[in-house]
Amino acid sequence: MQNSKKKLYIETLGCAMNVRDSEHIIAELTKKENFKITDKANEADLILINTCSVREKPVHKLFSEIGAFNKIKKEGAKIGICGCTASHLGEEILKKAPSVSFVLGARNVSKITKAIKEERFVDIDINYDESEYAFGEFRSSPYKAYVNISIGCDKRCTYCIVPHTRGEEISIPPNIIINEVKRAVQSGAKEIFLLGQNVNNYGARFSDKSIKNIDFSDLLEMVSEVEGVKRIRFTSPHPLHMDDKFLKVFATNPKICKSMHMPLQSGSSKILKEMKRGYTKEWFLDRALKLREMVKDVHISTDVIVAFPGESDRDFEDTLDVVKKVRFEQMFSFKYSPRPLTKAAKFSNQIASDIASKRLKTLQDLHREIIDDISLQQEGKTFSVLFEELKDRGWLSGRSDNNFMIQAKGSEEYLGKIVDVVITNPKRMVLYGEIIE
Ligand code: SAH
Ligand code: SF4
Ligand code: F3S
Repeated sequence: MQNSKKKLYIETLGCAMNVRDSEHIIAELTKKENFKITDKANEADLILINTCSVREKPVHKLFSEIGAFNKIKKEGAKIGICGCTASHLGEEILKKAPSVSFVLGARNVSKITKAIKEERFVDIDINYDESEYAFGEFRSSPYKAYVNISIGCDKRCTYCIVPHTRGEEISIPPNIIINEVKRAVQSGAKEIFLLGQNVNNYGARFSDKSIKNIDFSDLLEMVSEVEGVKRIRFTSPHPLHMDDKFLKVFATNPKICKSMHMPLQSGSSKILKEMKRGYTKEWFLDRALKLREMVKDVHISTDVIVAFPGESDRDFEDTLDVVKKVRFEQMFSFKYSPRPLTKAAKFSNQIASDIASKRLKTLQDLHREIIDDISLQQEGKTFSVLFEELKDRGWLSGRSDNNFMIQAKGSEEYLGKIVDVVITNPKRMVLYGEIIE
């Protein structure tokens, strides 16, 4: 007689790496432990929250969320906390929220099958090496495959908690990556999305010491040679490691999507030094403008932090200056949030919150003008789009090679296909167009 399946509800916060960790958790639990996924928390036998701790707000919200799940959960259902907040709070979560059964750090995902069987379980070891662990296959998108290429981060930017939640950087051996890419393509993926906190530092350290002399540019070429791979994306690259070799491979390899994330953080060389980013305003501008010169229609996105400790009006002006010069197609901007375990949290020159709010608004207003202008300029242009979703009233939605969100009228038969679309009605968030047959 076949056992009836247990139900798993999983909520994923944070970045693409957490999305991939959740896919790995789902693979472990569905393949090895007879679980199936549900989107109804009140019907689940296991509720998991895969947390992010990069800023303070979501961490605060975690405990009220646990409380809310506690009220609606089925009798006997377990709650588990995974991810980056699990890594840095550990045992404290069990003390504050006794309804939680286990806490599993961002670097301990492979232990999920053990964690669910224990009465109380905490494992948040950030030195644990999962870089060669053979996770099963589970992908949330049929057309796009996330593939980890490294775990952890060595950079230790002074504001950032990630090195404390994900540990030291280890690159995954190239043969494991290539095999995973092949499997993903065989099961229908068109786009390969390579993931790491610092992808273009790939090859700096492998757990298998015999692997040498391979960098991110080499890996990109290897992935592009896998038959069936149509598109390659990656995140996050670090501006410091954007050397000429990397820019050349990016510009010339036709399978690499012409969309680059260049996390600026600040435009002030003084603040960049305090942040320990390793580059200056001039280096960043040189790389971004070179990229614009080398790649027609390149899409450059960025992350900016305002009001880092000690940021003066002049420093902030430098950030605005870079934004004006590079004219990023997409910008994610945040008020600096002091994080435990980080150096900057102890700096004495923290900035008042009203100044931070004002700067964030100034920056976002400036960027809104820029993207409105960029959007208008796309009218009449043709982009190749991979359609991933069919929305209400027959609108297909997908991304262009250079990462614009594009919608066009069409039917299910276009899902998973890469087709040309001419833009007829550009808006700020979505460019609307028509499919060219
Ligand atoms: N590895 C990536 C960033 C990962 S964190 C990189 O180096 O770009 C994602 C973004 O969160 C960062 O780029 C940064 O802009 C933001 N961030 C990180 N720590 C923060 C903090 N303490 N306060 C505000 N924003 C922060
Ligand atoms: Fe954090 Fe810096 Fe590492 Fe990015 S590179 S994860 S910002 S420490
Ligand atoms: Fe958040 Fe951890 Fe990613 S802190 S941004 S989930 S690496």
